[in-house]
Amino acid sequence: MLKDNPRLQWLKDDNIRPYVFVRSENRIKNPGSLHSLDWFEGVSPTYINPLEIDEVSFGNQILQLEAQAFGPSNMAMPRWVFFDCAVTPGFVAGYAMRTSAMSPEMRIMMNLKDEHEWTPLSLFIIIPTMSSEGEWVAHNLCSVNALLPKGKGYYGLGFLSKAFGLWYANVNICCGFTQWGNAAIKLHSYYGPFQILTAYTPLHSYARTLTYRVKVDPEMWPHFFNKKPLERFQQAFVDSGKSIAPKEDSSLIRLQRELEQGEGPYFLNSQEILAKDVGAPLHLYTQK
Ligand SMILES: CC(C)(COP(=O)(O)OP(=O)(O)OC[C@H]1O[C@@H](n2cnc3c(N)ncnc32)[C@H](O)[C@@H]1OP(=O)(O)O)[C@@H](O)C(=O)NCCC(=O)NCCS
Repeated sequence: MLKDNPRLQWLKDDNIRPYVFVRSENRIKNPGSLHSLDWFEGVSPTYINPLEIDEVSFGNQILQLEAQAFGPSNMAMPRWVFFDCAVTPGFVAGYAMRTSAMSPEMRIMMNLKDEHEWTPLSLFIIIPTMSSEGEWVAHNLCSVNALLPKGKGYYGLGFLSKAFGLWYANVNICCGFTQWGNAAIKLHSYYGPFQILTAYTPLHSYARTLTYRVKVDPEMWPHFFNKKPLERFQQAFVDSGKSIAPKEDSSLIRLQRELEQGEGPYFLNSQEILAKDVGAPLHLYTQK
């Protein structure tokens, strides 16, 4: 059970619960019906409608958290992008805390206004694509842990926010983006076998962006916490003998060119990513 993990005791706090910030037309019909996983069973998320004037304060806090987390990398999301490209086609999920239960330190750090009963601690934005395979785009992920001193946060908050969103929306395939130097790659690679769609992405604001695609597999999720070997990956994938050096543009471009010529598909080994320093060379795997 997830709540038995001593580092995840905050999940037992009644003042913290998942939220779904979604317009009524986008509400998922049968949430949590695709993946068999007991992590979120019996959990009642708080629903908030982004189109309602009285709910703007919750949206403002999401934007405030996002701006603080992404400001240093100069990728804070403009308000109109949040509205046009995130909450209108997709939805936001995450964990929220009852505002009255927040500590004075958190209030100051998050520039908190007491306008809403709940305050977001994390956000995961996910948008459906035109693919007929049930493919979604993970557009944004951040957690208040990025702003808190190490050891003072809510361990697993970022990972569980994305896990909740994928489970809740019955996501079969998820693609997304991260920069090769971002430690977030450690989380993103644990939701399913981690295929590289682009290794070098000059159309993005940051060319050193990795686009990934996963077939969502909740059997992998507990391994993010217990660090046990991913036997299913070892059974289904084989080391291609090639590797990538994420710190070297020439290596990223070489792999990108190979992918464009139809080589691969190549996958990264999540366990190797978790064990190594961010930016260290990684082996490329292919399906057996
Ligand atoms: C990336 C982010 C969402 C992770 O959320 P989080 O709540 O901090 O992470 P979790 O508690 O769920 O997971 C912790 C684990 O993730 C990995 N991890 C997360 N941040 C890490 C970091 N800065 N360095 C190394 N490992 C990190 C580690 O494996 C860690 O486990 P460990 O402490 O046992 O080693 C959060 O740090 C964040 O908001 N960052 C700023 C915005 C951003 O870059 N978002 C990702 C865009 S792709």
